[in-house]
Amino acid sequence: MGLRLGDAAPNFTAKTSQGEITFYDYLGDSWGVLFSHPGDYTPVCTTELGRTAALKDEFAKRNVKVLALSVDSVESHDGWIKDINETQGVEVNFPIIADPDRKVSEAYDMIHPNASVNATVRSLFIIAPDKTVKLIITYPASTGRNFVEILRVIDSLQLTANYGVATPADWKDGEDVVVVPATKTEDIPAKFPKGFTLVKPYLRITPQPNK
Ligand code: BEZ
Repeated sequence: MGLRLGDAAPNFTAKTSQGEITFYDYLGDSWGVLFSHPGDYTPVCTTELGRTAALKDEFAKRNVKVLALSVDSVESHDGWIKDINETQGVEVNFPIIADPDRKVSEAYDMIHPNASVNATVRSLFIIAPDKTVKLIITYPASTGRNFVEILRVIDSLQLTANYGVATPADWKDGEDVVVVPATKTEDIPAKFPKGFTLVKPYLRITPQPNK
């Protein structure tokens, strides 16, 4: 059985392009994004890792540490990073895990044998500071992920963690949010002084609290 939302993210120690890392120590009190790609020196992955590097300040602003992974070696990662930097106009600034023995890939169920017997698919996990898994997505090898969407989910998760609100369909940072069902309507004015609109007893809209 693979990981599910709310599970503890498996801890591990692994070689990476930035030296040996113990996952929990690396994360510390930060949020984490751990994502796998099918292999080094592949075109879609090159763009994904470039995009992640370009979004460095966006991840830092949200207190998020990023790690990538493939089953290739550190030596392979090191050579490929030079290509990513050259072709994507970035400095890869996060570790890429080398997982040739598939220890991490198997712990996170990143190998889907019916898609590829030996390569990790495009899995991505968002991990909260308490080390629980908050989001799992899996994309096919041929589709690069949308990292703006990953940032959007992190914004939503952090709003839920800090303010007890949830975010509606297609929500973007700065737009109205919804009060979680656990909050009674009579308690809303004290918690959300910007006001709220009662659309239905179960649908209460309020301005984004931290804007
Ligand atoms: C890639 O990583 O670029 C890729 C992998 C498999 C199929 C197509 C693209």
